[in-house]
Amino acid sequence: MRIGPYELPNALFVAPMAGVTDRPFRQLCRRLGAGHAVSEMVTSRRELWSSLKTSRRADHTGEAAPIAVQIAGTSPAMMAEAAAYNIDRGAQIIDINMGCPAKKVCNVFAGSALMRDAPLALSIVEAVVAVCAPRGVPVTLKMRTGWSAAERNAVALARAAESAGVALLAVHGRTREQGFQGAAEYDTIAAVKAAVSVPVVANGDIDSPARARAVLAATGADALMIGRAAQGRPWLFREIAHELATGEALAPPKVIEVRGWLLEHLHDHYALYGAACGVKSARKHIGWAVRELPGGAAFRAHMNLLEDCETQWRAVADWFEALGERHAVLPRIAANDERLRISA
Ligand SMILES: Cc1cc2nc3c(=O)[nH]c(=O)nc-3n(C[C@H](O)[C@H](O)[C@H](O)COP(=O)(O)O)c2cc1C
Repeated sequence: MRIGPYELPNALFVAPMAGVTDRPFRQLCRRLGAGHAVSEMVTSRRELWSSLKTSRRADHTGEAAPIAVQIAGTSPAMMAEAAAYNIDRGAQIIDINMGCPAKKVCNVFAGSALMRDAPLALSIVEAVVAVCAPRGVPVTLKMRTGWSAAERNAVALARAAESAGVALLAVHGRTREQGFQGAAEYDTIAAVKAAVSVPVVANGDIDSPARARAVLAATGADALMIGRAAQGRPWLFREIAHELATGEALAPPKVIEVRGWLLEHLHDHYALYGAACGVKSARKHIGWAVRELPGGAAFRAHMNLLEDCETQWRAVADWFEALGERHAVLPRIAANDERLRISA
């Protein structure tokens, strides 16, 4: 699996998720089997680049190559400028966001709303490629299947984007109108794959090795992208990678291993966000990690009241240690996974 000059260790991508896939989470997913991870989106609005939020998102200290940064916006010139700005700060791949349905993005006609205005979408791709190509930086594009069921234009847009120089396309199998409702469909992704020769990444509702195999078979895609199912379960990547490579299921992780990963993640998380902010923003990651474990709901309620990093870290360490005394391996995750009902 390649993106431009970069050879990836495997074809499993971490989906960009604003507020989730920050540097510590991306690094954890890569350590646990993901072959590629795309940053949370960075706005193309120059006046926000010095904000704490955006400068954190543009900080790639210690991150392994290739560093992929997603940019979002509506103006070709501003998107080109944002691409150059992020390349100067270490980005080695620029990803254009035409996949996010969040109102904050769509109200200004960015994200997946761009799919409704194909000429503008294409102008953005051309402007970004014009800045990236001379610097040897591949441009990737993340899109949905279209704006609505009646306007499912992913194939046409994919063809045009390929002609404009895009190196890879990731397609989430829902329309903008669907948000996160209903099930992802893979026929449109298969049609995109058949229509272009650049690599195509299938995305939407992949939450197990079995689903990963089924989506690969249904789409013929070159790679898979996983978002919500990796929240609190980043080792899903190694489980999928192992099963795709060997045909055999990987044993569930030991509780003690999960404890170690989560504690390391918290350490990196606090280092990026600082103590005051980090203790709050870590709560969602801890909540996802424990939500399907026995006693997880009660622990989460207690943990949400803790106000400093040290106490939070210690509570997590002790809770998982006690869990490990009762269960050697992680108890099975419920099939009816609530994470897949999260909306952006
Ligand atoms: C909390 C959250 C934030 C997201 N933020 C972004 C984003 O910044 N850029 C983007 O292209 N997609 C974003 N997405 C969409 C995901 O990348 C992905 O396409 C979607 O969740 C479907 O994949 P999944 O079923 O594996 O979660 C976000 C999704 C979630 C749940």
